[in-house]
Amino acid sequence: MKSYDIAVIPGDGIGTEVMPEALSVLERTADVCGFGMKFRNYDWSCETWLKTGKMMPDDGMSQLSQHDSILLGAVGFPSVPDHISLWGLLIPIRREFHQYVNLRPVRLLPGIPCPLANKKPGDIDFWIVRENCEGEYSQIGGVFGEGTPSEGAMQTAVFTRYGTDRILRYAFEYARKLGRPHVTSATKSNGLFHSMPYWDSRFEDISKDYPEVRTDQYHIDILAARFVMSPERFDVVVGSNLFGDILSDLGPGVTGTIAVAPSANINPERKYPSMFEPVHGSAPDIAGQFIANPIGQIWAASMMMEHLGEPEAAKLIMKAIETVLDRPDTPRTPDIGGTAGTRELGAAIRDQIGKD
Ligand code: NAI
Ligand code: MG
Repeated sequence: MKSYDIAVIPGDGIGTEVMPEALSVLERTADVCGFGMKFRNYDWSCETWLKTGKMMPDDGMSQLSQHDSILLGAVGFPSVPDHISLWGLLIPIRREFHQYVNLRPVRLLPGIPCPLANKKPGDIDFWIVRENCEGEYSQIGGVFGEGTPSEGAMQTAVFTRYGTDRILRYAFEYARKLGRPHVTSATKSNGLFHSMPYWDSRFEDISKDYPEVRTDQYHIDILAARFVMSPERFDVVVGSNLFGDILSDLGPGVTGTIAVAPSANINPERKYPSMFEPVHGSAPDIAGQFIANPIGQIWAASMMMEHLGEPEAAKLIMKAIETVLDRPDTPRTPDIGGTAGTRELGAAIRDQIGKD
């Protein structure tokens, strides 16, 4: 029997509450589909940092590299500065494993109230492809003249040809694979003098290899407005690290809640494990109460199965989420208008697996 070996990092806050729900959904799915699932838990978190001064042990990356995939909860807590937790765990994993694609669906699910008027499931359904390894998120720069009147900070964005081309190409390939041949590029070439004109020229060049794919591009400001005014128009949206980051929270926001949205950090060449996580963070404001919505984590598990080459399993999980959300008597967590807990909603989805 085929079996998958998964590194599990629940992390901080509600990460530790939603993760068990995703694991039990995966176990049920594996039973129904006839493959095995092996989980290895890593307790790397802000708590670990407070105890050891490290977010993960020195050989952490080599431990992770032994696994087929990584399922992550959320990392970051008020007890530790965010740049320490982020740069100590998430960013090294994304960069050292060349997970240069951050893929995020924007889809209005049944039973989730949409903040936009008159929208129903099916109306909003597109994908964001975010560059995940370079761009605006770099460690190049510094603070100068500290303590003097001319004190300041500089931060350099990095757009290599290699890094730019591979993310653009992925977006075109993905649009092709989806059978939705339309790619929108997020730019800001009227404001950023060097990086975005370069991005635009690479977009134009690469698009020539995909003549059947329709292209358009918008400056990030008007693109943000269009996400709200006419989300129906999008199929695949590609953006730099910063633009993609913002758009991929705006997208789920437009579909009602970030709590149900997943995010895949993908190494397309499969040389390294890819990492799957919910879009949301550790939600310190509700952590410890077991009222967090586990759907983002469960949907992330579905994306993981798709990546591992089990599309049927991925579909079963998505179907279960949609069926459960569509039922009037579903146990709903407070963020989607109910009073149920994390475990009740998680169990309802798990029990639905394989029933359709
Ligand atoms: P957050 O996503 O943790 O919370 C934002 C708001 O959404 C809060 O009101 C929270 O209660 C609510 N929320 C989030 N997930 C929910 C869920 N599953 N069910 C119900 N409500 C939910 O973002 P915030 O507060 O900006 O960040 C908190 C910590 O998480 C920070 O340390 C931050 O760095 C970290 N973080 C980590 C991420 C990751 O691991 N990839 C992503 C985003 C934030
Ligand atoms: Mg973000």
